[in-house]
Amino acid sequence: MKNVFIIDHPLIQHKLTMLRDKNTSSKDFRALVNEVSMLMAYEVTRSLPLEIVDVETPICMAKGHALSGLDVAIVPIMRAGMGMLEGMLSLIPNAKVGHIGIYRNEETIQPVEYYCKLPSDISKRFVIVTDPMLATGGSLRDAITLLKNKGAINIKAMTLVSTEVGIKEVQRLHPDVEIFTISIDEGLNENSYIVPGLGDAGDRLFGTK
Ligand code: PRP
Ligand code: URA
Repeated sequence: MKNVFIIDHPLIQHKLTMLRDKNTSSKDFRALVNEVSMLMAYEVTRSLPLEIVDVETPICMAKGHALSGLDVAIVPIMRAGMGMLEGMLSLIPNAKVGHIGIYRNEETIQPVEYYCKLPSDISKRFVIVTDPMLATGGSLRDAITLLKNKGAINIKAMTLVSTEVGIKEVQRLHPDVEIFTISIDEGLNENSYIVPGLGDAGDRLFGTK
């Protein structure tokens, strides 16, 4: 699939199995989401532009690379996307953070927006929107639409578990947005939960069920 990157590093795939395990506690689940997000941040930021700079080593002057200008904004989709924030920030500590609140109505499965607060210079930033679950795709699709309406141009999406149908739904409106994920699962069940998935990510992260 174009613009979709599956990060299949062994460390990540091992941790994904632990995330899927229904016996993993909230404490461990949170830690694992953090660790996987940190590892993924490495790949998602691969296209950040570099410039050549001078550096004086203890031995001599040399040329080195430095990130050039393009600042990062991380935008979790609340709630579950918040679980990916700390891991991302540990690798990109200067990033600004925006928040988008979207939940899925349990009966209609349609996304409902309830909050949006973004850095004022979002249009100039390399925006990484995070949400562990890409199921029907409605939540991520609408979050990206919101970001674009607020001026964001350079947007990447980072999810943990995705479905093909969800990816297609996001790409229907946003073919320009690269999606980084660690698994494309079999599909959705009758309640639009991902199969095999890992259950309700928000509830598992925050211990609400
Ligand atoms: C989950 C998940 C995504 C959405 C995915 O959020 O974190 O945002 O569902 O489903 P979709 O692709 O079908 O839209 P949820 O509605 O459970 O809200 P929460 O994170 O606040 O628990
Ligand atoms: N939201 C979740 O948290 N899990 C799913 O499988 C689908 C939507």
